[in-house]
Parts: sequence; structure tokens; C-alpha cells
Amino acid sequence: MSVPVSAEHEKIKKFDWEPSYFHRDAHYPTKYKIPPRTKDPFRTLVREYASMEEEKDDRTYGSLEDALARMSNPSEAEPRFMEVMKPVLAVVNFAEYGALKCASMLVDTVSNPELRQGYLAQMLDEVRHVNQEAYLSRYFAKHAPDPAGFNSGFKMRAFDPLARPGRACFELFMNDDPITNAVNLQVVSETAYTNPLFVAFTELAAANGDQATPSVFLSIQSDEARHMSNGYATLAAVLTEPDNLSMLQLDFDTAFWRQHCFLDNFQGVVYDYFSKSRTMQSYRDYWDEWVWEDWGGSYIERLEPFGLQLPRWIGDAKRHVQWGGHTMAMVSAALWPVHAWRSDYMTEADFDWFETNYPGWEKHYAGFWTAYREMADPRHGQLALGSLAPLPPLCRVCQMPAVLPRPDINEMQLAIDSAGRRHAFCSAPCFQIFRQDPAKHQGLTWWEVNDGVELARYIEEFGLLRSDGRTLIGQPHLHTSERWLWTIDDIRRTSFVLTDPLKSLPADAFTRI
Ligand code: BEZ
Ligand code: FE
Ligand code: FE
Repeated sequence: MSVPVSAEHEKIKKFDWEPSYFHRDAHYPTKYKIPPRTKDPFRTLVREYASMEEEKDDRTYGSLEDALARMSNPSEAEPRFMEVMKPVLAVVNFAEYGALKCASMLVDTVSNPELRQGYLAQMLDEVRHVNQEAYLSRYFAKHAPDPAGFNSGFKMRAFDPLARPGRACFELFMNDDPITNAVNLQVVSETAYTNPLFVAFTELAAANGDQATPSVFLSIQSDEARHMSNGYATLAAVLTEPDNLSMLQLDFDTAFWRQHCFLDNFQGVVYDYFSKSRTMQSYRDYWDEWVWEDWGGSYIERLEPFGLQLPRWIGDAKRHVQWGGHTMAMVSAALWPVHAWRSDYMTEADFDWFETNYPGWEKHYAGFWTAYREMADPRHGQLALGSLAPLPPLCRVCQMPAVLPRPDINEMQLAIDSAGRRHAFCSAPCFQIFRQDPAKHQGLTWWEVNDGVELARYIEEFGLLRSDGRTLIGQPHLHTSERWLWTIDDIRRTSFVLTDPLKSLPADAFTRI
């Protein structure tokens, strides 16, 4: 008589051993106390898990290679939307790598067989996600009408001024105490943010004619539910030890703000500015539903009896979500020459949608977008970068432009340290996070790395030209006829030089720390 799989699963966990690398000599020690036994969040044997995932992967890769390639689907999709898949795939793929590293660190550190089962399966999932998204980038590099940028996304994400904050956000999955990393990844990013990122995003892709992305992203999201369970089980385990609570609350508050800084502004731009089909809800509506109500309102509130409070700055995040994406869309568009994707201008139909969904939008943003559209023509020789004066400094902590939530109600904070080094922060929370541990936040900003570099030289050095060696990959429009395409000669004629705005701010604007 065969033994049920669930009984085998229970039996295997009883055979757990005490590996020598836990506790004393962990590669990645934790400051948290973890109970030796807890509930099993996963309840699946690795063997069962492997066959289930193999089948899912076969279906995803099979549909991409077969039906979608024959139908040439990427050429049917809205070009405006296809452009945003270039940074989305490059940046999200980095998150998958961080998630893989986080799960593998947890396997090494947490001496608890129930939790470790879940971490092991998550680690395998994240390896698969890294590969699935890399495969989708390659698929678009082969099939998209404008492949430039899909082929160089992984290189671009290391230096692009708005991909760097993405890296700063997702490095939080792997650069600290393994449990702190898990709070960033599993508790905040996967539970609050993967629903908008992978579920609502598939609606957006499909509405804009892209059928390839939904098949990959929905397959990925079916794994994320298990990763959320890992997060809940990790939290529940940590909360059974009263000594952990104050450390956990601090890590949780910090993790939420740091994930918000990049993810909400990034997704705000992606949803609201790269969609041509205006049948979708606004990003702010998605945020209210998925982050505020579902995550903050039901998931986290259920943990309040254990002493964990809602993240300290969630109210500030709600306030920032109203305008942050619009401000970032403006900065991102102004930076078009340094991106490896094209940044379309907004039309009258877009203006109407914005004013309906974000009343007051026209007053604050329409002027920029009208001018941006006029500057799209290379014959005018004008860069929006030159018109956005003063350009915003970058936040020392999250690396986002410090102009949030809106230029006229900007919450930037400035500080100068005892060594005379100047720092900008996008907000009071980022300043507070810096003060908790300044040594953690000493990395250079994009402005500091490139200060004094001529724009044309930057573009050439970072490989931002197309295969003809003269036309830019980034363009401020989607036109394809030659007369509209900006070349390196057009950029050279502007004589624009990248200059760190932090240097020219008056000394009395800075707080001494
Ligand atoms: C994940 O796969 O776990 C993940 C992907 C993107 C953002 C956050 C998490
Ligand atoms: Fe993943
Ligand atoms: Fe995940």
C-alpha cells in the first residue's frame, strides 16, 4: 500500500539533522532569535514541486516559441507600451536575482526545517524567474519591431539614472541580516507589490496588445503566493520571541519606505505613462486596492495582536502616490537621451485621462508635456533636460530624484556631514533612515559619478547608440522616419554637460550633521 505524500513529507521533516554551519558559523548570521520548530508554510515535497513547476515552464516557453512567434504578436502591440518592457524586464530581473540570493541566505541561516523547506522551493522558483524574464527579453530582442534596448537591458540597468534606484531597492533583498532581507522581500515587496507588478501589469500588457508578457508574468505570480506564505511564516516565527519585536518594527518601517520609494514611483510611471489604451484604472487606484486595503488593511492589521504596527510611514506613502509617479514621469522623460528606451510624448487624449483621474494634473504637469512635445523634433535642437531648471539632486539613500511628491511641494532635505560632504534626501523618512546608520548609505549618486561629463560623451561611452553608430536608442517620440531621429551630432550641438545640482545649492540650505 502506498504511503500518502503528505505523510512522507511529515516523516522527512522529522529526520532533520543539525548541520554544523548553523548558529555558530553561519555565513550570514542573524540578530533575530528563531524558534527551532514552527508551522510549515509550504506543505509540498520538493519532488512534487519540481514536476509541477516543470509543467508550468514547458507551457510558458512552449507558447512563446510556438504560437506567439508565428503570430508575430510583438509587432501588433502598442509601440509606446513595448518601450517600457525594456526597463521593466531589466530591472525586475535584477529583483529576481536578489530574491534568489535572499532565499538561499535564509536556507543557510535559519535552523528550522519547516521554514527551510519553503525557502528552498522559493530559491528554485527565483532561479526560474531569472531565466523566464531573461528569456522574455531575448524573445523581444528577436521579435519586437524596435529591438534596440532589449538586447542591452542587463548592462543598462547598472548605469541608467532611473534603473540605479531600482538596484538600490532590490539590493535590500540581499545586503543585510537575512531576516531583514526577508522583511524587504517576502513581507513587503512580494506581499504588497507583486500583485500590482505581475497581476495588474498583465491586464495592462494585454490591453496594449502584448500577449507574451502575460503568459510569463502570470506563471511567475502563481509562485509568488507561496513566497508570501514564506513571509508570513517567517514573521509569525520571529514574533513568537518577544525580544525580536522592536528590531522587527524598525526593519519593517524601513523596508516599507525603501520599497515604496522606488516601486510606487516606478509603477506610477509605467502604468500611467506607457499605456496607450486608456481603459485601465490609474496606478493610484491599484495602489489603494492592493497596497492600502489588502496589504495594510487586512494582512498587516492581522499581525497587530502580536504587537507589530502598520509601517510608520505608510500615510506618507499614500500622500506621495497621488503625485510621485507624475513627477517621476517628467524627470524620466527629460532624461530621454540617457535611456535605452524611447519616451513617447503625451497627446490630448492622455491629458484628458490624467485630469479625470488625477484632478489638478493639468495645472502642474501639462506645461511640461506641451513643451516636451515641441522639443521632440531634432530640428529644434532643444533638450527637455535644459528646460527643467533646476534639475533635482538625487537621494543619498534611495537614489531617486529629490523632487517628491511634486516640485512645488517638494519634501527634499539637505545635510552636510562633519567631513563636509553634501547629501540630499528625497524625504524626511529617507533622512531618518540615513541617520540610523550613515555608514550603510555612502554610495555615490548618478550625478556624482558623472559630474562634468559631456552628454554626447556619456551616450557614446555607455553604448546608447544604435547599430548604425550614430542614432540614439532613446528618442523623445515613437516616430521612425529618419528626419525625426536624434543622432549623436544633434546631441553634440546642444553642448549639454551633466552637472551635479547639489554643488550649486547655497551652503545655508544644508543642516549640519
Ligand atoms: C519576486 O519575484 O519575488 C519579486 C519580483 C519583483 C519584485 C519583488 C519581488
Ligand atoms: Fe520571483
Ligand atoms: Fe518571489
